[in-house]
Amino acid sequence: MQLTRKIALDTFYVGSSDRRLELFENIYPIERGVSYNSYLVMDEKTVLLDTVDHSVSRQFLENVRYVLDGRKLDYLIVNHVEPDHCATIDSIIREYPECRIVGNAKTLQFISQFFSFDVASKSETVKEGDVLSSGKHSFTFVLAPMVHWPEVMVTYDTLTKVLFSADAFGTFGALSGNLFADEVEFEKEWLDDARRYYLNIVGKYGVQVMNVLKKASDIDISMICPLHGPIWRKDLGWFIDKYKTWASYEAEEEGVVIVYSSIYGNTEQAVNYLALRLSDLGVRNIHMYDASKTDCSYLLSECFRYPKAVFASVTYNLELFPKMESLLLDLKAHLYQKRKVAIVECGTWALQSGKKMTEILKSMKNIEIVNEKAVSILSSAKGDVLKELDALAEALAE
Ligand code: FEO
Repeated sequence: MQLTRKIALDTFYVGSSDRRLELFENIYPIERGVSYNSYLVMDEKTVLLDTVDHSVSRQFLENVRYVLDGRKLDYLIVNHVEPDHCATIDSIIREYPECRIVGNAKTLQFISQFFSFDVASKSETVKEGDVLSSGKHSFTFVLAPMVHWPEVMVTYDTLTKVLFSADAFGTFGALSGNLFADEVEFEKEWLDDARRYYLNIVGKYGVQVMNVLKKASDIDISMICPLHGPIWRKDLGWFIDKYKTWASYEAEEEGVVIVYSSIYGNTEQAVNYLALRLSDLGVRNIHMYDASKTDCSYLLSECFRYPKAVFASVTYNLELFPKMESLLLDLKAHLYQKRKVAIVECGTWALQSGKKMTEILKSMKNIEIVNEKAVSILSSAKGDVLKELDALAEALAE
């Protein structure tokens, strides 16, 4: 059974969603599933834009067959070769042997690395600014290296003004018939996943994302068709502004995130005290997470969302508690910056976690540590330590 929908002139959605997968890229929990988007333009020549992950390949092939309705497929434009989008290229080539694969030099190199068919004899190499005409529609290619792999490009249909944006403007979350962002409660139901998707997957490449946004600002765009999540045809500026904020590593809104690693609850108790003092000082939008309970991808997203953070951890095996270490190293790998942070350590003997957290945070660029010497809690917070936490709240609230 076909599951397709017309989204623009001659343009059909032929992708599909996976609600069974637990971990996207075998690392990110996706409670709301994920969609693998693909688009087919029916012109004098037929043009497919990207394929899908193996998990939804059966439905995808059925969709493509239905829309083609007996016609042959002339072109497959490949904007991104990561297997969640390219896994079904060989099936397409088997079913439509005359189809020409269109990609840049790196695209075609990567496809050759993944597959064993003769890619060179079946492909057309394009460069930045090249145009492919399918009849009424003309497709212009814009290179977007490192958004999120080096071969990535985006494709612009000059007739419909649709931008096929690869991973950019994508999000976790399966699609449920409402394919457009204006058909769902995007801000309420999707934005958190969009932020988590961007920051964890593409977040390291903010400079490259800003370059693409700059190129895109010269183009008149009526619709953005990403490879994951809803399609944008309204309020494009609102979502592009979110991307500008994320790509420039700016905080999205006022607030403080507190992440703690606590074994028996004493570190947790200390940061609960700190949160109350912050609240006394007028700080709002305080969000507290146990690093052992909340997946790192959510913590990373929250740390980027707010301008201020508290990291509180117990010492473990004379080192930093592994969950906290993992978060801080992940933040470093994603170029966490432009933030004000505070450190709290706890332990009964040979405390090391404060020193270790400071070392990692100091190795990042543009991080203001309000207390280079961590508030140090011997077993449980009391006496002078409470005064230190009071002072930390004041320094952080400033
Ligand atoms: Fe959705 Fe970079 O792949």
